[in-house]
Amino acid sequence: MFQHIEPFAGDPILSLNEDFQKDPRPNKINLSIGIYFDDAGRIPVMESVRRAEALVVAKAGPKPYLPIEGAANFRTAVQHLLFGAEHEAVTSKRVATIQSVGSSGGLKVGADFIARYFPGSAVWVSDPTWDNHRSMFEGAGLTVNAYPYYDAATGGLRFDDMLATLRSLPPKSIVLMHACCHNPTGVDLTRAQWDTLIPLLKERSLIAYLDLAYQGFGDGIEADAYAARALAAAGVSFFIANSFSKSMSVYGERCGALSVVCPNAEQAVNVLGQLKFTVRRNYSSPPIHGGQLVATVLTDPELRALWESELGAMRERILAMRHKLHDVLKAKMPERDFGYFLSQRGMFSYTGLTQAQADRLREEHAVYVLRSGRMCVAGLNSSNVEATAVAMAEVLNG
Ligand code: LMR
Repeated sequence: MFQHIEPFAGDPILSLNEDFQKDPRPNKINLSIGIYFDDAGRIPVMESVRRAEALVVAKAGPKPYLPIEGAANFRTAVQHLLFGAEHEAVTSKRVATIQSVGSSGGLKVGADFIARYFPGSAVWVSDPTWDNHRSMFEGAGLTVNAYPYYDAATGGLRFDDMLATLRSLPPKSIVLMHACCHNPTGVDLTRAQWDTLIPLLKERSLIAYLDLAYQGFGDGIEADAYAARALAAAGVSFFIANSFSKSMSVYGERCGALSVVCPNAEQAVNVLGQLKFTVRRNYSSPPIHGGQLVATVLTDPELRALWESELGAMRERILAMRHKLHDVLKAKMPERDFGYFLSQRGMFSYTGLTQAQADRLREEHAVYVLRSGRMCVAGLNSSNVEATAVAMAEVLNG
């Protein structure tokens, strides 16, 4: 019956993470998957989330199905977090939001919606992008192309080339962008660059699709929402999938959302209806627990303040690790510029390591980075950063 089924080639991120778990070497260092580890190398249980969980459990009663679109308190809290409670797009009710199974679930519901309502539109992703973006949109039956993004020569952004490509796209092309903390490179657009890009998207009638998986890990919770707020304020209709996996350290709870900013409330009602239809045909409705943790943290003033400070400390710790890595590497290889570790933002850095060098790093030094050269700097800590830098220098020196 299943002889024609070929083996799964594995996922470049998740399979490597599994290999890491199986690696018996005691000194192994996991800088592969996009997970924030604390300075002791553990996935943190944030105090704000722990307290929210106690409140949620204390209130727990029957567990009916949630509405298809998810819990109302969660959806409202998401809109307020993304845009601000007073943003015109929110107050005029022109944002359609569903609670999704992780932001991956949201991305895919949006992809299915696009495949149905914009069947002639190709999707354009940054070169490079998160490994799973392409498969998700192709999995929805859409054609996926790439626009220029990362500049390997400078460790920065090919902004002019990016604009030139976007300018040449047919109207209603889908432009997938990372709202902050670009995965995998850590290279973000500046505010001035967003301000240049947004009118172009509008003028060319391109459909922006933002992926916001790392809000709070770049420059701050509000600052990282700049692109979303600016697009909405410019009157652009767009999609945005956001995640709480990293920002609340609730990976396995699968908490995310998809929001579609529409021209008016009437269209938002129809868009929400069709998103619901898409969800119903896939998994019917989202789970209760994680969404209630998130909604409680976001809406309880004390827990909200605590969460913001905990997230701020995580952001600061990543920055400190970036500096430490940079300084050790610079001392070892003064002729080489490692400044990109300092200018890149969020959990990831593109190290510039080739596939062969990434393999050597793993095989000879038990340091796991993706074969693309992406390093999760949030996996560094005071006990492993030095060893990582030394191993990296050795591999770079051939
Ligand atoms: C990553 O990029 O490593 C994370 O977003 C985890 C994943 O699902 O790939």
